[in-house]
Amino acid sequence: MTAATTDTMALARETDVVLARQAIRKAAQEIGFSIVDQTKIVTAVSELARNAVVYGGGGRLEWESVTENGRTGLRLTVIDQGPGIADPELAMKDGWTSGSGLGMGLPGARRLVNEFKLTSKLGHGTTVVVTRWK
Ligand SMILES: Nc1ncnc2c1ncn2[C@@H]1O[C@H](COP(=O)(O)OP(=O)(O)O)[C@@H](O)[C@H]1O
Ligand SMILES: [Mg+2]
Repeated sequence: MTAATTDTMALARETDVVLARQAIRKAAQEIGFSIVDQTKIVTAVSELARNAVVYGGGGRLEWESVTENGRTGLRLTVIDQGPGIADPELAMKDGWTSGSGLGMGLPGARRLVNEFKLTSKLGHGTTVVVTRWK
């Protein structure tokens, strides 16, 4: 697998979620994703970035175009060093929220991408890596 350049931005506040959406829309366009796929990726990053801001106390978004076995994709990593998730399996269930959300962010994001990996350590933070292939 080859990864081109990795771009990165800080996720500190709600307005950064908007900037993340714009950056990922552009990256997905550059790779040549269909409008429908662009929207799927943008929706996924929106949910993950918002979680990093709301629950993770802020974090970072990294993205890169990846090539593997002749196919191209967009890989996003959302990282925070917040409190972590006590029960990641529960957090992935439709409708589960510890706050006042809809509890659809994580499970929704998972359905919108081809690869989804959530790693979380209590007291240390959360990392979600997602990839959508063309
Ligand atoms: N980055 C994170 N850090 C800590 N907890 C998180 C993080 N992301 C998600 N969670 C936990 O997982 C739950 C489910 O997340 P999500 O599916 O996005 O639903 P919602 O944001 O509506 O609560 C959240 O309520 C929160 O408890
Ligand atoms: Mg959420």
